[in-house]
Amino acid sequence: MTIWSNVIGTGGYLPATIRTNHDLSEMVDTTDSWIYERTGIKSRRIADVHETASSMAEIAARQAIEMAAIDAEQIDLIIVATGTPDRVYPSTACLVQERLGIKNCVSFDIQAACSGSVFGLSIADQYIKTGFAKTVLVIGSEVCSRIVDWTDRSTCILFGDGAGAVLLAASDRPGILATHIHSDGGYEDLLYCPNPQAAAQVRQDEAGFISMRGNEVFKVAVNTLGRIVDETLEANHLQQSDIDWLVPHQANTRIIAATAKKLGMSMDQVILTLETQGNTSSASVLLAFNQGVRDGRIKRGQTVLMEAFGAGFTWGSALLKF
Ligand code: ACO
Repeated sequence: MTIWSNVIGTGGYLPATIRTNHDLSEMVDTTDSWIYERTGIKSRRIADVHETASSMAEIAARQAIEMAAIDAEQIDLIIVATGTPDRVYPSTACLVQERLGIKNCVSFDIQAACSGSVFGLSIADQYIKTGFAKTVLVIGSEVCSRIVDWTDRSTCILFGDGAGAVLLAASDRPGILATHIHSDGGYEDLLYCPNPQAAAQVRQDEAGFISMRGNEVFKVAVNTLGRIVDETLEANHLQQSDIDWLVPHQANTRIIAATAKKLGMSMDQVILTLETQGNTSSASVLLAFNQGVRDGRIKRGQTVLMEAFGAGFTWGSALLKF
């Protein structure tokens, strides 16, 4: 009998503070119209001083557990994707395990930048399919605001904070149909965030903030996401019309529109959160999925294609029946 990974719950958390493009125009040399036209972003959420990746992840996780109506103790694996962990160690996943009061499970973090939640779903699916785990919590949680240089107009306009979660359980009913994940480590210079404490050599200008050559990243992202769509459809013998919903990583509406076009989809079939959330890195796909599920757009039995692209470069897709 085939074992599938079924979505039994979703959750999301966004900090209360809203930072608008207008707010940013008072901090750096930019305008609301430049940001909105180039990116599709109008505002983003900013964590308060007490919030961390683990505190936001806990809230998203509790929502997913409540939707699934399970006891948290049933979770046997917690995977947290984050580029902004509370601590180098323990992992944020271990901190979330403790926050949820789960004594008997395995928890670890993964780091795949903005592709983190898609990579997390892929890992979770392997563990469920092999029978190692029956119930897996996958979370993407980020306090991007703490690794953004708020004097750099080319990056600070893009990012926001938040957490998204999904609970998967073993089932004989189709769930995750396939995941396709990739990386190419040859692009470090185009997009990176230094870790000054651990680096062998720290350059004067490397204060631990995101550095991105946006225009070059943009071109690779559009091409790569086009290829991952083709790969996913071909490998799973699907037509464009078999996909009900595109749940993309939320980096730029122009990138998302190019992927939707490639799929022959109208923007009405795309779950977009970018306008009010910005790019929440590894949290963005699961935050968007949670929104689509909770507002009733994504319905049971429908086919969802998630895709993401991030630093590394890393990229991938998760194709699932909800
Ligand atoms: N306000 C006003 N002007 C600006 C701003 C700003 N906030 N930022 C840059 N500019 C200026 C530049 O200085 C440049 O001026 P110049 O022509 O005089 O030199 C001009 O605007 C154009 O700059 P570009 O960088 O070419 O602008 P572009 O149209 O490429 O938009 C953006 C920039 C939005 C960053 C886009 O390139 C992008 O979205 N890139 C991809 C981001 C992405 O997908 N990242 C991957 C995931 S993130 C992760 O993994 C952590």
